Amino acid sequence: MSTRRTLSAASAALVLAAAGCATPDSGLDAAGRHLDGRGPITYVQASDTAGVATKQVIETWNRRHPDQRVTLRQFSDVDELHDNLVHHFKAEDADYDVLGADVVTIAEYAAHRWLQPFKGAYTLDTSALLEQTVKTARYQGTLYAAPFMTDAGLLYYRKDLVPRPPRTWQELLGHCKIARERGMGCYAGQFAKYEGLTVNVAEAVAAAGGSFVKADGTTPSADTPAARKGLSLLVDAYRSGDIPKEAITYQEEESREAFEAGKLLFLRNWSYVYPLASSDGGSVVKGKFGVAMLPGVSGPGRTALGGQDNAVNVYSEHKATARDFLIYLQSPGVQRELLIKQGQSPVVKSLYHDKKLLDDPALGYLGALERSIATATERPVTPFYPAVTQAISQNAYAAIKGEKPVGKALEDIQAAILAATSEQ
Ligand code: GLC
Repeated sequence: MSTRRTLSAASAALVLAAAGCATPDSGLDAAGRHLDGRGPITYVQASDTAGVATKQVIETWNRRHPDQRVTLRQFSDVDELHDNLVHHFKAEDADYDVLGADVVTIAEYAAHRWLQPFKGAYTLDTSALLEQTVKTARYQGTLYAAPFMTDAGLLYYRKDLVPRPPRTWQELLGHCKIARERGMGCYAGQFAKYEGLTVNVAEAVAAAGGSFVKADGTTPSADTPAARKGLSLLVDAYRSGDIPKEAITYQEEESREAFEAGKLLFLRNWSYVYPLASSDGGSVVKGKFGVAMLPGVSGPGRTALGGQDNAVNVYSEHKATARDFLIYLQSPGVQRELLIKQGQSPVVKSLYHDKKLLDDPALGYLGALERSIATATERPVTPFYPAVTQAISQNAYAAIKGEKPVGKALEDIQAAILAATSEQ
């Protein structure tokens, strides 16, 4: 079913000439093809926070659609998935049909016309979904993807040691002596040099009332007192040891394992951790932790909205099957199953008000999750996101390790965002 073609020299030059923002004719032409195509499809996604329930809902689909079976291919994290997708798109490859794209990558893929737009007869009904999630799937007014999971950073805390969760960084740091007395680390998030660090830094900056870009979405605001205060929260806590030294290598999973092993008093992570830390054989914190909104400076903080939107590869030959599969994945039944079985934050609004779910002790985080999504901040929306996030994660990493002053790191981030957004 694959029609692998090589990107012609001329269109490659066009793509490069426009610094990655070209709208090659191939994408435009491809958008008119195979809209009624049906057959087996391949679904690719990052497995960083996905659990076994994803495979179960795909098995259910496959039993019901023997001629339109879905093959799942998973990548270890969102960065690896991104690089692989770009490679396939540039080859105009039909191998992948449905792409589980990190919300921050939609603008880049859409600007290149790598995604099949949902318009005209090839449309999707998003009225049952959370507006914040639908916004992540749009680019320049057009819907390019189907929201599938949303994600909000939550503060996991040891309720056996800290009865009431801290609302501010100051309160949180005030509890660190409890951790020190017990030989535990106080706080960790994800501080390895990858997309997760951009998330954690964006949240620290938002806690202090700052952001990397202004509300217009393009004017950089990284070099401001609020951003300095935000990044300094992480830099100072790392220097003092309240963020343990090993946390500089943590992605989501390593930080979850440290919390489950009882090595941390506080953990910033996504909702998928809740069911695992409550049930894993090796978790020593079962029944001993609670969940709250992330800390801020004068009150609760704000998460950087995460999540995955499913999009259809513009070069897919089975777009009718792909669309049906997207609709299935965002149906209330599947969304409910993924919430209950793997703590996946749903995109369907009604599930956040479902009494049965709200009363379920295993979903004790649903209220904090909904409040966090409602006040979430965005990472910068730009087709040049890879350059922007690289500047944020590399500079913040150097600052946290004490290798670059906070002011200089933010100046460099500001310059990188300015360079990227002025190309738009
Ligand atoms: C989760 C989020 C995604 C984010 C990533 C960072 O997968 O859903 O938006 O970029 O974590 O590691």
